[in-house]
Amino acid sequence: MDQSHLPSLCEAYRDYFYIGAAVNEKTIRTHDELIRGQFNSITAENSMKFESLQPAEGVYDFTLGDELIRYAGERGLRMRGHTMVWHNQTPDWVYKKDGAPASRALLLARMEEHIKTVAEHFTNPYAWDVVNEAVDDREGGYLRSSEWHDLIGDDFIEKAFLFAGKYVKNGAKLFYNDYNESVPDKCRKICRLVRELKETAPIGGLGLQGHYNPYTMPMDEVKRSMEAYAELGVTIHITELDVPAFDRENNTLMGEPTAEMRRIQEEYYEQLFALYRDYREVIECVTLWGVADDATWLSTWPVSGRENEPLLFDRAHQPKPALERILRF
Ligand code: GLA
Repeated sequence: MDQSHLPSLCEAYRDYFYIGAAVNEKTIRTHDELIRGQFNSITAENSMKFESLQPAEGVYDFTLGDELIRYAGERGLRMRGHTMVWHNQTPDWVYKKDGAPASRALLLARMEEHIKTVAEHFTNPYAWDVVNEAVDDREGGYLRSSEWHDLIGDDFIEKAFLFAGKYVKNGAKLFYNDYNESVPDKCRKICRLVRELKETAPIGGLGLQGHYNPYTMPMDEVKRSMEAYAELGVTIHITELDVPAFDRENNTLMGEPTAEMRRIQEEYYEQLFALYRDYREVIECVTLWGVADDATWLSTWPVSGRENEPLLFDRAHQPKPALERILRF
């Protein structure tokens, strides 16, 4: 479909921040026209995660990651690297030695080797999510229990940043990235973590995933959290933005969004971008977790059987009213 008539989102925001999209080896083909017209930054949806890059010990596969790097180069897009150390999409061998849990020393050695190899291979990204989702969602807890955490200790995050600082050579900023970042208790913990890291490790950025639920996350809380994050003295990226039409706490509603759901989603997007514009001094990039509504993880999560239509372009790759609203400023 010809999209040359569309106004360009990334052009409209040129003086504010980069506009990114998560892509994969399929969508760079099926959504190429939208990506190159509307976005100026990309993130690999899966292909730079641990399990994709090093499925077995010492066996690296850079094929898909390289394809995205090549694509970004051809289209003149910036690239975010995502993600080096995470408790999901990491193969089990990483945490094991002869069937037993790996020692702290071994796990740290594997972490260093992985970060070194990946950083030395992919030299294009201008930002790296070094550690993803290490903070506990539960009130009272601080760091999440995970193999990385439980086998190494609280300092696994600091170590990951120190390794990344040692091997990332192109000046790319090193990010901590997390979700539920506007929940007040979690926001306090993320701020604490960033402050602690700043004392000893080369953290340059904070990634706010932005997987919002417009039914449970009041805009006032989003604003308050942004105020707190803006004071940390690091660059902010919104890294995985999407606004589902359905309330993800209510898994009984199915099918297509109603007109009312669409209205709520559009308003939420409008308010979010107004907020992001207010924080342009600290926000460097806003990345959506996908390009258009025909390819989004929210078609199957938290349940299948409903179309969350969480992005700014519809299933036919046409602009949605939410997009029109965020272009009006
Ligand atoms: C997390 C990860 C992303 C992606 C999304 C859901 O937020 O950081 O890489 O897996 O979940 O698709």
